[in-house]
This record gives sequence, structure tokens and C-alpha cells, in this order.
Amino acid sequence: MPTFIETQFPIARLSAESYKERKANLGQTLTRLGKWWGRKPLILVRASIIGMLMPASDNPKKDREIFLKILTMDDDGTWQRCKGEVPPAAWREAAPVEMRDEYFGRRGFKPGLSDDEKEELCARIWASLSVAQQRALDGQRRRPVKDRSAFDALPYADRLKHCERPENVQGPTPSAWAEINAHLGTTARNLPELVEQLGRRTFGHTPRVGDSFCGGGSIPFEAARIGCEAFGSDLNPVAGLLTWASLNLLGGGEDVQNEVIRVQAEALAAADEQVITWGIENNDRGERADAYLYCVEVKPEGSDYYIPLAPSWLIGERSKVVARWRRRSDSDRLEPEIVVVSDAELKLYKGKKGATTSDNRVIDPFNPDRSWSAEALRGPDGLRRWNKEDFEPRPEDVFQERLYCIRWINAEGKHRYAAPDASDLAREAKVLALLRERFMDWQRQGYLPSKAIPAGGDKTEEPIRTRGWTYWHHLFTPRQLLTHGLLAQACDRLAVSKEARTACLLGLGRMANWDSKLCLWDSSPANEKGKDVFLNQALNPLSTYSGRPLTKYKTAWPILLEVTPTRIQKSVVVLSDARDLRETSDLWITDPPYADAVNYHELGDFFLAWYDKQLSKVFPDWTPDARAELAVRGDGEDFRRSMVEIYKNLARHMSDKGMQLVMFTHQDPAVCMILWAGGLKATAAWTISTETGAGGIKKGNYVQGTVCLVLRKRTANEPGFLDEVYPLVEDEVKRQIESMQALDENGEPNFNDADYQLAAYAAALKVLTQYGMLDGKDVEHEVFAVRAKNEKSDFQTVIERALSIACDTLIPRGLDSSWRELSLVERYYLRSLDIESRGERRKGMYEELARGFGVTDIRPLLKSDKANGARMFTPSGLAASLLAPVQGADSNTVELPARRGRGGAGAPHPFAVSPLRHLMFAVRETAAADNSPEPGRQYLRDTFGHSYWGKRERFVALLEWLAALGNPEGMNEWIADSEAARILAGRLRNDHA
Ligand SMILES: C[S@@+](CC[C@H](N)C(=O)[O-])C[C@H]1O[C@@H](n2cnc3c(N)ncnc32)[C@H](O)[C@@H]1O
Repeated sequence: MPTFIETQFPIARLSAESYKERKANLGQTLTRLGKWWGRKPLILVRASIIGMLMPASDNPKKDREIFLKILTMDDDGTWQRCKGEVPPAAWREAAPVEMRDEYFGRRGFKPGLSDDEKEELCARIWASLSVAQQRALDGQRRRPVKDRSAFDALPYADRLKHCERPENVQGPTPSAWAEINAHLGTTARNLPELVEQLGRRTFGHTPRVGDSFCGGGSIPFEAARIGCEAFGSDLNPVAGLLTWASLNLLGGGEDVQNEVIRVQAEALAAADEQVITWGIENNDRGERADAYLYCVEVKPEGSDYYIPLAPSWLIGERSKVVARWRRRSDSDRLEPEIVVVSDAELKLYKGKKGATTSDNRVIDPFNPDRSWSAEALRGPDGLRRWNKEDFEPRPEDVFQERLYCIRWINAEGKHRYAAPDASDLAREAKVLALLRERFMDWQRQGYLPSKAIPAGGDKTEEPIRTRGWTYWHHLFTPRQLLTHGLLAQACDRLAVSKEARTACLLGLGRMANWDSKLCLWDSSPANEKGKDVFLNQALNPLSTYSGRPLTKYKTAWPILLEVTPTRIQKSVVVLSDARDLRETSDLWITDPPYADAVNYHELGDFFLAWYDKQLSKVFPDWTPDARAELAVRGDGEDFRRSMVEIYKNLARHMSDKGMQLVMFTHQDPAVCMILWAGGLKATAAWTISTETGAGGIKKGNYVQGTVCLVLRKRTANEPGFLDEVYPLVEDEVKRQIESMQALDENGEPNFNDADYQLAAYAAALKVLTQYGMLDGKDVEHEVFAVRAKNEKSDFQTVIERALSIACDTLIPRGLDSSWRELSLVERYYLRSLDIESRGERRKGMYEELARGFGVTDIRPLLKSDKANGARMFTPSGLAASLLAPVQGADSNTVELPARRGRGGAGAPHPFAVSPLRHLMFAVRETAAADNSPEPGRQYLRDTFGHSYWGKRERFVALLEWLAALGNPEGMNEWIADSEAARILAGRLRNDHA
């Protein structure tokens, strides 16, 4: 019997929920534990598991209703989750004094803050509050509309703006449970009970969910939270630690969480006491340091002084503070001046006034015409490689480092930026001396990193080459090493339990991410603060960077801020190569690494360097090594071999009734072939857009879909024959598309073109993957067959055929009558306009469509081929020479002049055999004649002669369709041509012989 997810999945709503979760940034449940790249949204995991456990009935509509109820994503559930937003005035009241002055005016947020900045600000305020204060703030939420029907009328994504995420509410109401139980024949009162009952029914026990690439832990964590037994495994110890922490700290229950919070607070207090005793963060004015700003400086050949480097010397846009440099007669070091400037001057600094590095060149601050190549400064042999004992540059090093500004805060919360004075520099010297005394011992104890940065990595080579930093601790200032080491030492003394020790380790990881030489200073008005290292997926040394004093650790250091009731029962986390796993699961849900999208093993080492020796004490069976040589990488043959091996292994460790769900963020047939060769057969595929608004594409947003491929074990390896398989594929694709069209509700489309395309692909796979062999060819052999460039396997040809069936089944509304008579390229052009009018801007989608219609070159038709800004030409946009025929004869026999420019001279234009081009030419003529339809009409009559009368109705239908293109938002370029099309259509309709 198929499960719910094998028949349908509420894609639009899930996309909206996933997007909301991802947008929560620091407010996401697992992100507080530490950085990992590409964590999957928890709601997607929850929906996938429920979808795999819930049987499909013969009433798909009811199934959908019940499924949404379980997830509180039905209309009642959404209303129940609608708590509204906290008004800005309440945020202002709750904000710490210094934030209040900085970010709020009398009425609310200061002008100029973007939505993202406001969201981040609120997250920071929230994190600074006690649990009681958070509750009080929560109580001030206001529902956007009082009236339920007005709420229901909003598009789903808009409703969500005012809603809690499903994971943060109680779950379905008792009356919803009654309906759920009645439909499913269960007696559940909560999610774990439902999961248990559905699992028992299928597997005879609580369902066990496994993830062999668990990364940041989303899959095992969510599985366990809703009542499954969870198994997580990853090659990387950092991933293992995060997953273990998600299950045992966030899922550890009140006692564990209270202990973790207490120990981390005590460790911070102990470190703080020491810092105060040393007097390294306080000045004589009673102020405490609030931020440290550093820069690199170099003395190029011919310069008498060291040049401090920065792409901009703007420190605070809101405070109007900048740094200037002054020469000194007694030194070759310049002296910083930290000054408040006028609005006019601020503007100049925003425009990079005084920048001393640009385009990889060093610029003389006193003579902008004098510059040096930064690369050349490194010399022919490169930079001196720092030693293990180094924690600051040596005097002979090319790149020197210096502190140039400190932001102070006084007892009233007032900030002040200043250049370091003599006593500040004395404090810096003291920091160095204190660190020197402890450095070796702390490395031995594992309080400080002592490992070398692996050379030759894609990401790890960067700090080595550009700064000579060869050990991980070189990526931190002496002050950072001293304060982080202090915390590590305090934790070693205070944390006893495995949970508290893990929390302390992760705390150190968070500190490394928020307080290192790779943390840039963000001078934008809403920020004026240091950023984290992994803003991007790289390890890029910076010319200016920021550091945090210990007081700032209050937000970055703790792993848990409040106690959550979650108590996870059964979970196992191991470190293992996925090829070697021996654990069995009922459901494997995996999100494999692909094509080096993220260099997990290299980036993870940044954290592992801090965990290192301490990790082995807490997890004696874990080796603190990323085992990079075993990481699945690239997309070549090695990748395919490892993946086939892994998925064969997972299929072996799954019961016959078991299922798999594989998530990936690309549509590469290779992955499907791998799963097929792994002994699995596809039963469904769905795409959830996780980085954009639901169901649609917001302008300027980066859009990414996550494909969820549902698979079962292929128990019988029957041989098949391509000529028999073709019609089966055709039927399955049509059936799949028709069933999706039937589900597409009015007003809230569930599926967009990408979904249909993918569904066709999945439908083909559903048929193909039933067979172990096709026409005597073994699929595994096919996966590894060496092929010439552009040579296709028979398997690929079948898949492409499926796509073209899908393309042909999806006819833009209003074109049904003329569709069959259009050529493939015409259909492509019109379908592309159709998706463009619905807001689709991803170039990949236009390319995917082209594949489906068999159009090989779309460049002449695309006005813009930007990755996220694709659009088609209008008739007036296409050059006349490309639309008009050379001789006036019937279109299908006329050759267009050879194309020049883009696409190469001499290539035939894709519209060469298209009657649509005549119609477009006529539209163009109409527009050019100030919307007089006569020249266009005459042109068509001349071109088509007698056949004009037979084609007239089709022309009218097509023109009317083009006429409607000027209406949708974002189709401004079509306004003139669609008006011309409308007028021409009217003229043709009334034409008489
Ligand atoms: C895309 S990530 C998984 C992200 C995860 N689903 C989450 O939500 O955070 C892929 C993971 O595969 C792991 N990995 C790479 N090669 C592996 C191997 N041979 N065995 C096990 N895990 C591996 C990487 O360390 C990485 O954590």
C-alpha cells in the first residue's frame, strides 16, 4: 500500500514553512548549537517522516486535509499558530539600554533598518532577556486581523508571517486529533503516540529513522522529537558532536538543560573575574571595552612607513565614525585618529575615501596614485610560514597586525570609539605576556588549538598562502587566545557531566566562529559589530577584523538560553563512514554531500582544532580527525562509486517494508542512477523551495529547491525491454501530471513548473527503477560506462522523453486550441513566456524547459540569461531581421538570414521554421505604427496568402494570449507589445475576405 508521500505532498505550504524556518536565522532551533552548513529545515524532516508513515487512502483530498492537520498546517492549525507580531514599541521597551538608544526612535525602529536587520536585532534582544521577560514580551503579540475569515483569505505565506513555527506549538487540538484518529484508525493524543501507532502498524515497532550523513543533526533530532528512534552518523566529528548535542542537550530534559546553563554561566563568570583582576579590558575612565578593531599593515618597497590596510575606513555609519591616519616624525608607524565626521564626509567614506587596499593592490594613504600589488608583496618565495610557537607576526614579517580602535562602553551604556592610547597599548602588552606564560601548557592541555592547518586544501590553503598562517591558532589574536583559553580552562574545572562538557566544547566552537581574525567589522547602521567567520563558506583572511571582549560572550558563549521541555528517549550517534554502517533502520532519510558544494571536512577542521584533545576525553571512542580521505567528494567516478556503495549498504540495512528519502539540491540524473544502482526503486519525488517565498519566486531572492526522492528496496530484479518500457513511462508521466493538476487548488497552486518537470522525471524513474536490467544492460554498468561527450545512454534518452511528455502535457491556459499545431520551438517560447509571467526568473528553469521541448539553443530567445534574472525577448525586443522572412512565402519553408552575434555567426535562428515569428513581426509592426493594426494585418495576409483565412482564428487566439502578458506584475516590458497584440487581434477578428 502506498504511503501519503508516495501519492502527494503539500509542496507550496511546506515551501512556505521551510522558508520561514530558514529565515529565522539565529532563531532556528539547532543553529545555537553551532555552525554547520546546509542544515535541512526541521519542518521538512517532520513532514517527510509523517508522510512516510501515514498510509494513503482512496480519498486523496481527505488524506491531504488530515496530513495538514497533523502538522498544524491546515487552516485551523495556522489560525491556532497565529499569535501576531510583537509591536516595535514593545521591542524597544525590552531592549537593553544601549540597544534602545542605538536602534530605536521614539515610535519604533530607527529608519533605515532593513527587514533582515530588524529581525536580527529582535533575535539579539530576545537572546538578552530572561525567560520571564521573554514570556512577557510574547504576551504583547497582536494578531494582525481579529477576524478569522480575513486571516484565511490571506495567501498562506502571508499568514505565516504572524504565526509560530509548527515546532513551537503544542500540536493539533483535541478536536483535530479526533478527526485525525477517525481517518487513520488511531487513538493518538500527540505526535509521538501517532508515530508509535503508525510505526507499529507497518513495522511492528516504534519506527527507527536513520541518517548516515547527519551533519548538523536536523534529521535525527526531528525524528526523535516526534517519537521515532533516531540513529545519526557522520564521518566528521564536528557533525557528530552537533548531532549528539541536539539529541542529548536540546533533547536532554530540564535537569540536563539547567545543569548546562549553570555550568556555562559559571565558566563565563570565572573567566570574567580573572579578566577583571588582570585589568585587561577596563580603562581608567571606568569604561569596559566593547569591541576591538584590528588591521594588517605592510611596508612596501619605496614606502617610508607601514601602510595600514582596509578597503574602507568607515567604522560606524550610524555613529558617523571613521579612522584617519597621521604620519609621525619619530616612527615608521602611522597613528590612527578616530573621528566623528559630517554627513557629507561620511558619504565620501562610504564611497571608500582613503581606502588603502582595493583590487588586490595596496594604496598609499597620502598619495592615491602610488600603489603596489599585494601579491608581489608576498615575494617570489611566498611568505614566511609561522611556527607552532608563534601567535603574533615577527618584526621581519611582511604582514604586521595592529589594534587601531577600541569601542568602549560606560556604566550608562554609552559607547565611545577611540584610538588606543599608551595605557591601552600597555594592556595589549600585558595580554601578550599573560598568554606567553600559559601558551605551551594550554596547548598541551587542549585548551588552545595545537594542530597544523592541512596544506593543499581548497579552503585551507588560503590562510597559509596569503598570511603564512600554518596552525589553526594563528587565526586568532593573542587576546582571543587568552580569553578563549581562560574559558576552556574554567570549563575543564567546572563541567563534570558529558552533557556539560559537550556544551562547553560547542561554546568554544561558537566563540571561534564569532571571535577570530576572520571576523569582519560591519559598519552598517543597524550593526556596527563584528560578524562571524562563516558568513561565507571559506577561510578568507581579512585586512581589517574585529575582536570581542569577554562581556560580549554573554550572547555568543551559551549553547542553551532557556529550558525547553523536549525529552528525547532513544537515540544513537556514531562516527562512521557511511560505507561501513551496520545499523538497521526502517526509514533512512539522507542528504548526501554533492559536488563539493561545501568542503565539510576542511571547514569543520576550524572547529575541530578547538575540540581536539578535549573531545577525546568526552567521547573516548571518537577520533578527533575529519578523515578527509574518506569524505564523499566531487561528482566524478569516485563520487559515483562511493555513493553506489553507500546506498547499497543502506538498502541492505533496511527491512523490505522500509523506505528511504534522499534529499538533494540539484536535479542531476546521475544521483538517480546511483540510487537505482544502489538497489532502490523510486516511488515519488517532490521539490520544496527552501530559500524563497512559497510557490512563487520573490524578486532578488536566491532560490533553491530541495528535491526529496522517495525510494523503496527493489526486491525483484526483473529484466525489462526499452520498447515495452517507453509506453509505460508515457502513461505514468501523464497519470502523474494529471493527478497533480487535479490537486492544484484554485488560488493556491501547489506545484510550479519545476515541480511538474521533476514529477515527470520521477514518474520515469518510477517505471525504470523497477527493473534491474534494461535490454540486457545492467544499471550499475550504465552508471560507470565511459561515454563520449554528449553521448547519451538509453536510460538518459528515456528520461528525456519523459520530460518532453511533461512539457507537452502542460499547456499554458488559453492556448489549448492552437497548441497541437505549434512547432516545438514555438511551444517552448510560449511556455517560457508563461512561466516568466508567473514570476519565474531562474535560468535553469528555462534551460530545463528547453530540454523538454528538444530546443538546443535558447540564447537568441533570451533577453537576459542571468542566473536568477532570466527573461524572454518581446516581439519588439527581437531584431526585425530575426523575425521577418527573406522572401514572402510560407513560413515553414522560409530560411531566415544567418544569425550574427550571440550564438555565433551563421547558426540558424531557432524561429527559422516558425509561423509564430510572423505573428510576432506583425505585433512589432503594429507597435511601430503607433498601434495602427493595418501594416501588421497586411503583412500577415501577404505572407500567408490564401492560407491566412484558415489560420486566422489561431492567430487571434495567440494574439489574445500575448495581449494578456502585459498585465502580470513584473511584465512591464510587455505593456506596449501586448497592447499592440490586443489591437491586432481585434482587427483580425473583424477581418473579411
Ligand atoms: C549535506 S551534509 C548533511 C547535512 C544534514 N542533513 C543537516 O541537516 O545538517 C552531508 C554530510 O555528509 C558527511 N559525509 C561526507 N562523506 C561522508 C562519508 N563517507 N560517510 C559519512 N558521512 C559523510 C559530511 O561530513 C556532511 O556532514
